[in-house]
Amino acid sequence: MFEHLQAQADDPILSLIGAYMQDSYPQKVDLGAGVYKDELGNAPIMEAVKKAERIHIESQVTKTYTGIGGDPEFNHHMEELVLGAKHPAKISQRLRTLQTPGSCGGLFLASHLIKRSNDNATVWVSNPTWGNHYAIFKGAHLTIKEYPYYTVGAESIDFDGMMDTLRQQAQAGDAVLLHGCCHNPSGADLSNKQWRQITELALEKGLVPLIDQAYQGFGKGLDEDAYGARYMAEHLPELLISVSCSKNFTVYRERTGSLSVIANTPKQADIAHSQLLAAARASYSIPPACGAAIVKTLLSSDELVPLWRNELDSMRERIITMRSLLVNKITDYKPDLNLSYLLQQNGMFSFLPLSPQQVHQLRETKSIYMVDSGRISFTGMTKANADYVAESIANIL
Ligand code: LMR
Repeated sequence: MFEHLQAQADDPILSLIGAYMQDSYPQKVDLGAGVYKDELGNAPIMEAVKKAERIHIESQVTKTYTGIGGDPEFNHHMEELVLGAKHPAKISQRLRTLQTPGSCGGLFLASHLIKRSNDNATVWVSNPTWGNHYAIFKGAHLTIKEYPYYTVGAESIDFDGMMDTLRQQAQAGDAVLLHGCCHNPSGADLSNKQWRQITELALEKGLVPLIDQAYQGFGKGLDEDAYGARYMAEHLPELLISVSCSKNFTVYRERTGSLSVIANTPKQADIAHSQLLAAARASYSIPPACGAAIVKTLLSSDELVPLWRNELDSMRERIITMRSLLVNKITDYKPDLNLSYLLQQNGMFSFLPLSPQQVHQLRETKSIYMVDSGRISFTGMTKANADYVAESIANIL
């Protein structure tokens, strides 16, 4: 039966982790996957998360099944984190949330719901977007189309191109994938005004946004990074928000996240929720519990929330410092090169102006790892490796 299968290519992001680990070169640098690393190059577990985990382990009394939608208390905390404490969608009872295995699990469920709701739906994704978005939507047999988003070279958002494409080509009942903050891979985020304009367009055309919220807290701050999701939730009849706890709680391998659906009426919200539960049951059955229990414990603790917020602030500030450091150091070598756009962008990622050949050359000759597109994760930079990284990149440019 398997003799007709074609081998699949390695995942272009996660395969870098293995390649980096096998590299024995002492000065190797990992600018690949979106994992927060500290000044020592370690991917730490946040102190608040460690404390919450201890509390959870001590107080846990059973490992029996949870409901298919996970822990209602966790789901409640996720709604508050993303939408704020008193959100109109919640008050009007049009909001339902499920615990999911990371945001991949949420996007997977969302794509099934979109397909179930509208067999002809197209999902519009930004060009460029995170590579796995294509795989997830393709898996649900959805048509995928791209809207212009980021122009490499100009190093800015092509907002007119985005709006024109959606206005002219998207159909009522299509879904539009948007990155809630810290756009992956470009780091270029929509302004608040642009969020409002897209909301208006979605309303006018009957488009349903699907927001991927994977980096809340890494852009400008926890509340600032939720502006788009909150505004859309307040003004649109239908919306999907898929949330990852991997990065802002450092629980990557615990597979922790949520999917929220907002529907036109409470009854429609119940029906959409039941569809999501059915899709979950037919795939992973119930979501993994440990990460969600940790996040719930943390978010319900008056002592741990401030600790966690401080840690997240420091992580964000370190990334901003690393952005400046790299720009300054490369510019020392190449004064004519304008990299100032890197200082305007948010989160872990941005593009460096490198071709795939140059990326491979850096990997092979300098053991500096990044995605072929030239996307780097600033978190792999430290004060100690900044000179090496800047000089190597400057020499190859
Ligand atoms: C990334 O884009 O590097 C992260 O989201 C990790 C992943 O799963 O691809």
